[in-house]
Amino acid sequence: MAEAQDKGRIGLLAGKRILLIIGGGIAAYKALELIRRLRERGASVRCVMTKAAHEFVTPLSVASLSGEPVNEELFSLTDEAEMGHIQLSRAADLLVVAPATANLLARMAGGLADDLATTLLLATDKPVLAAPAMNVRMWLHPATTANVALLRQRGVLFVGPEDGDMACGEYGPGRLSEPMDILHAVEDFFAVTPAPGVLAGRRVLVTSGPTHEPIDPVRYLANRSSGKQGHAIAAALQAAGAEVTLVTGPVTLPDPVGVTVLRVETAQQMADACRRVAAEGGARDAAICAAAVADWHVVPADEKLKKDGSGTPPALRLQENPDILSGLSAPGPGRPALVVGFAAETEKVAEHGRAKRLRKGCDWLLANDVSTGSGTFGGEENAVLLIAADGEEAWPRMSKVALATRLARRIADHFTGEASAAE
Ligand code: C5P
Repeated sequence: MAEAQDKGRIGLLAGKRILLIIGGGIAAYKALELIRRLRERGASVRCVMTKAAHEFVTPLSVASLSGEPVNEELFSLTDEAEMGHIQLSRAADLLVVAPATANLLARMAGGLADDLATTLLLATDKPVLAAPAMNVRMWLHPATTANVALLRQRGVLFVGPEDGDMACGEYGPGRLSEPMDILHAVEDFFAVTPAPGVLAGRRVLVTSGPTHEPIDPVRYLANRSSGKQGHAIAAALQAAGAEVTLVTGPVTLPDPVGVTVLRVETAQQMADACRRVAAEGGARDAAICAAAVADWHVVPADEKLKKDGSGTPPALRLQENPDILSGLSAPGPGRPALVVGFAAETEKVAEHGRAKRLRKGCDWLLANDVSTGSGTFGGEENAVLLIAADGEEAWPRMSKVALATRLARRIADHFTGEASAAE
């Protein structure tokens, strides 16, 4: 099984350039094996060590195993003359931080640049994969939890930590993932990440977030959508070179960099904005409808509704909202080449998803389980079933950022003719 899994990964790392940042933790010795494994698979590995990492592994062993000089100092004349620190962070395809200590994660989250490692992490325009390792209480501390959540939101990928006995004698989450698991996470990254620029020239519309439907001037109907999935999709498509317009309902997320963002409140406003974008060609190649659009709106009262003392609550009369996905999917000259919808289901996910794809007329439908306890709505993770006319793919539970990357890759492969959903 493990062998078969390994076979499918052959060649994924050939020619890839990894910048490995080694933090100062007792698990730093595992970075040595990671270097060996990465190089065995054809990757080149350039290493940067924090000052604390020297307490656990020597630059000589790191340099010998990587076959490249080790960079350590921010203000090193020789290093700068050979390769400036900005250049170092841009020459890589992926930055791997292993072990990522609590201190290093905190400095990354805070945007500090007080040594070479953190300067590179701040200056890079490349993806970052962090493998945390620390004492269980440090990992569970609210400060670390908040730092990791922030970094995830900014697109940093994580592998581990694992549960286990710790060097300090405690038991729990905090152990660095095994080198083979980190290696597999690196391979997974390259397996699903679209090549930079592969979607250049493609014009894509993404909807995201909830809608707010006013009841009166101070109240509204809404849902629990956070917009995390839709925003991550917009960011991933943009990172792959697409020209992205994001139409979003009210969310608390920052705008994805490099994306044109149109903010709306109601379903009607979202429908109008999408129609305008499509009419201007902004959805020519694809439309991804990830928004949780309210199915109904209320005809809002002009004044705040008040209790009238009769004990009879006011009746809210609901009217149906336009279905944006169905509208975009309708055959016609301006139809996007690929229309993708989502189906948030609480039961019979596959069955309802298939029926919904046909009803809405979209090309792909990503059905996900939002039942209580699934943690999908507002959470960091998602698991979907991709339903297309020619087949289905079950995607395992992964972070919303990873799912967005995988979808961007799938869309890129679709346009370059490299994959069908039946595979
Ligand atoms: O709400 P429902 O399950 O029908 O949503 C499925 C898909 O339809 C989602 O992709 C959602 O963004 C889209 N949708 C829409 N306009 C609506 C309702 C849903 O675009 N009014």
